[in-house]
Amino acid sequence: MSKITVALPKGRLFEQTIDIFVSSGLLKDKIKPQSRKLIVENDDFRFLLVRAKDVPTYVEYGIADIGVAGDDVLLEKNPDVYKPLDLGIGFCNIVVAGKPEDKGKYFSNPSTLRISTKYPKITEKFFKEKGINVQIVELYGSVELAPILGLSEFIVDIVETGRTLRENGLVVIDTIRPSTAKLIVNRISYKTQTDKIKNILDKIENFVSTSV
Ligand code: PRP
Repeated sequence: MSKITVALPKGRLFEQTIDIFVSSGLLKDKIKPQSRKLIVENDDFRFLLVRAKDVPTYVEYGIADIGVAGDDVLLEKNPDVYKPLDLGIGFCNIVVAGKPEDKGKYFSNPSTLRISTKYPKITEKFFKEKGINVQIVELYGSVELAPILGLSEFIVDIVETGRTLRENGLVVIDTIRPSTAKLIVNRISYKTQTDKIKNILDKIENFVSTSV
């Protein structure tokens, strides 16, 4: 029998997703990535450890049958996948942040703002709806440096505990939307491996709905 391939983000969501697989009876034991191996297997599953932003790509192209991705990543990438389940993990907010002293500028109806972000599409859409032109500076990490060093006054980023903003002297200025992690499924896998995938979805849904 072929194994179900699951694409998981290497970062914070990996462990929480594995916990859900264990608690819902899909995995007997926790699996931990060893050394720098990027594929971890047992009898039923093959887990691919990928960058969070790459999860939708592996699922959309059918390399993985299922995957776990936050709303932040899904809104940014807009993949053609089936999104059947909110996993109730990975809670964070997508926000506009900056230095406290720049709050006034943000709310004074500026015609143009310069924003550094890992999320150019989400940023563009949000400010278009507000009628504000934005010059987007795309970064791949440590976005909080941008307002400190003057690359831009504001950033659009996710905030989970708020610690990174706090420790860098920045504050939330506007909230775009909350984000949680979703289970996503390749559309063809859902049709060709319906029973297996439905069993996974049922078990996870059952666990998630009774654990809130
Ligand atoms: C994310 C995000 C913030 C931080 C927020 O970065 O971009 O920098 O986490 O979390 P907090 O509110 O709990 O401090 P990540 O850790 O993914 O690293 P990156 O900057 O390299 O993308």
